[in-house]
Amino acid sequence: MNKTISILGFAGSLRKGSYNRALLRAAQEMVPEGAKLDIFDLEGIPPFNQDLESQPPDKVKEFKAKIRAADAILIVTPEYNYSMPGVLKNAIDAASRPYGDNALDGKPVAMMGASVGMMGTARAQYHLRQSCVFLNMYPMNQPEVMVPFVNERIDPSGRVTDPKTREKIKELLESLVVWALRFKKEVKGS
Ligand SMILES: Cc1cc2nc3c(=O)[nH]c(=O)nc-3n(C[C@H](O)[C@H](O)[C@H](O)COP(=O)(O)O)c2cc1C
Repeated sequence: MNKTISILGFAGSLRKGSYNRALLRAAQEMVPEGAKLDIFDLEGIPPFNQDLESQPPDKVKEFKAKIRAADAILIVTPEYNYSMPGVLKNAIDAASRPYGDNALDGKPVAMMGASVGMMGTARAQYHLRQSCVFLNMYPMNQPEVMVPFVNERIDPSGRVTDPKTREKIKELLESLVVWALRFKKEVKGS
């Protein structure tokens, strides 16, 4: 591959010992050659207030700039009450505003998620896909990476140890790079 694909990844959990943040770290270890994955921490993005959307805080400005600079986005979502956590939805809302200045517009995106339950964030990911429609993002359909019973697949140091989970994450990243290249070609005509 002769192009560098830059991916911006963020996880919808602020928890130090977050399993979803662990998935994102594992993804960073497995980025294919010719690509890089930078992690953005959502900690510090304030609750969105539309009255203030024209004067966003520095953290939101930084988030939007990093999204715009990336060729592709990787979102790692926990599942809270059958949906994505407020922290993630809030960050997406902030990045999408004010109207006409949606940083996520046109971005290819992949998603994955892990939960301690048996559904592995399926419901949260389908809600996230629904938001992608209005955001005009391009979510990759396959592979779907929904990690159930994640507490059995990560060691106490926060490393994803389960070989099958690692394999699925690797597959997701490889597919995302191919997906992102398609958009880069269309945009730059190369
Ligand atoms: C407010 C809240 C709601 C939750 N709802 C769900 C749920 O709907 N489905 C599920 O599988 N797990 C649910 N869980 C459990 C999460 O899967 C678990 O806390 C997981 O570790 C969160 O991700 P994290 O480790 O990245 O923080 C919920 C947890 C919290 C705190």
